[in-house]
Amino acid sequence: KDHAIVKEFREGCAAPLPVLRRVAEGIAADMRKGLNSDGGHSLPMIPTFVNTLPSGNEEGLFYALDLGGTNFRVLRVQLGGKDGRVIDTEFEQVAIPQDLMFGTSEELFDFIASRLGTFVQKESGKFHLPSGRLREIGFTFSFPVKQTSIDSGILIKWTKGFAVSGTAGKDVVSCLNQAMDRQGLDMRVSALVNDTVGTLAGARYWDDDAMVAVILGTGTNACYVERMDCIPKLQGHLPANGDMIINTEWGAFHDSLPLTEFDKALDAASINPGEQILEKTISGMYLGEVARRVFLKMAESGAMFGGSAPDKLSTPFVLRTPHLCAMQQDQSSDLKLVGKILSDTLGVDDSSLGIREMAIDICDAIVKRGGRLAGAGIVGILQKMDADSKGTIFRKRTVVAMDGGLYENYPHYRKYIKEAVIGLLGSEISKNVVIEHSKDGSGIGAALLAAANSKYAREF
Ligand code: BG6
Ligand code: GLC
Repeated sequence: KDHAIVKEFREGCAAPLPVLRRVAEGIAADMRKGLNSDGGHSLPMIPTFVNTLPSGNEEGLFYALDLGGTNFRVLRVQLGGKDGRVIDTEFEQVAIPQDLMFGTSEELFDFIASRLGTFVQKESGKFHLPSGRLREIGFTFSFPVKQTSIDSGILIKWTKGFAVSGTAGKDVVSCLNQAMDRQGLDMRVSALVNDTVGTLAGARYWDDDAMVAVILGTGTNACYVERMDCIPKLQGHLPANGDMIINTEWGAFHDSLPLTEFDKALDAASINPGEQILEKTISGMYLGEVARRVFLKMAESGAMFGGSAPDKLSTPFVLRTPHLCAMQQDQSSDLKLVGKILSDTLGVDDSSLGIREMAIDICDAIVKRGGRLAGAGIVGILQKMDADSKGTIFRKRTVVAMDGGLYENYPHYRKYIKEAVIGLLGSEISKNVVIEHSKDGSGIGAALLAAANSKYAREF
């Protein structure tokens, strides 16, 4: 029943175990290269200057800002201290206005500072700040930043469709401080963290076995606990013992991936061609766009939709991951919901059952490839850690904390990750690898890291 285009596409997307093995090995090899030196064609492997994860004793009132997913969030977190693990939180979130993603740095940071200012004003009596202290912030900034310390870092480049002018090459904490000055807001950024790092810190607060964090949302990335003596590029700069969290920026990985003509065309038309290839293959921002491109080719070739391509079908990014997910979950015998999505979103009316089935096949091929490659990435990181720690990762319980809208909301994707991990590691070892959802942990994680790095820490 498969049409030739669908068949070829499915074959091009296939990620059987040998491909996954090559990807896992490739990621582990690129991790080593990136830890050795910056630049070249390896992963960025960014040292985060986070060398202690939360213990549970963190205490006090902290704010967190979370920028880089679908929503921008402001949080207020009261930490209980003394291993009480008591947390009281309040937050507000807004979708990031599209125009800010293409505006100027000042506009974006003014927006952040003004939302923060309004939120701070609503602080109630149940949150307590000792007198004479500045409010401190953990800033989750989910883009590649070359950290210069725990509370400063230079934006390397925007990813995930952001194209804000004037930020790349600047310290994002200074950008925020200047915006807070303009708003008359006197607060201090005590920790600047990637969302993966915030997620790992948030997960570690509850679970000592958390060693890796992965985001599968609009974009994708992973961080993990690395031994200082395995980071040659830092030797001589910092103490040689202890651990440090490394932000891999694995979205930049590009070798051995099963890519099709549609992925290549998507990349070429993107605002960052040649970059973030793994991200464009597996993360939430792009899955629907790959599918749309396949549908469009089928329409143009006359194989689908009566030989003509409606305008909507030619509009980049109209088809989103939630649409794919809804189509895959349609249990009705006539695939009614699939028909509705094809009609409402792509302008394709009166689709036949055969076309609807093909649409699901295309979505499944994309999501299966994404989930399996994400699983291979997780295995690559764990294998690298295990090899460098004389087998201790796989011999005991190791938690991989996951977050992001794609992971949270797409059951098929989660299933494919799991299948790949079990396929690569075998059922015995994979029992020790606990892949756990750490919901919205990165904001709280950032607050915990702000607490650990508080200007007033010694006074507790
Ligand atoms: C959230 C984190 O839970 O997941 C964010 O707190 C992160 O920091 C996000 O960026 C990923 O979100 P999204 O919207 O891209 O799925
Ligand atoms: C992108 C960003 C990265 C972030 C990830 C998930 O890949 O470059 O920093 O962690 O998206 O949000």
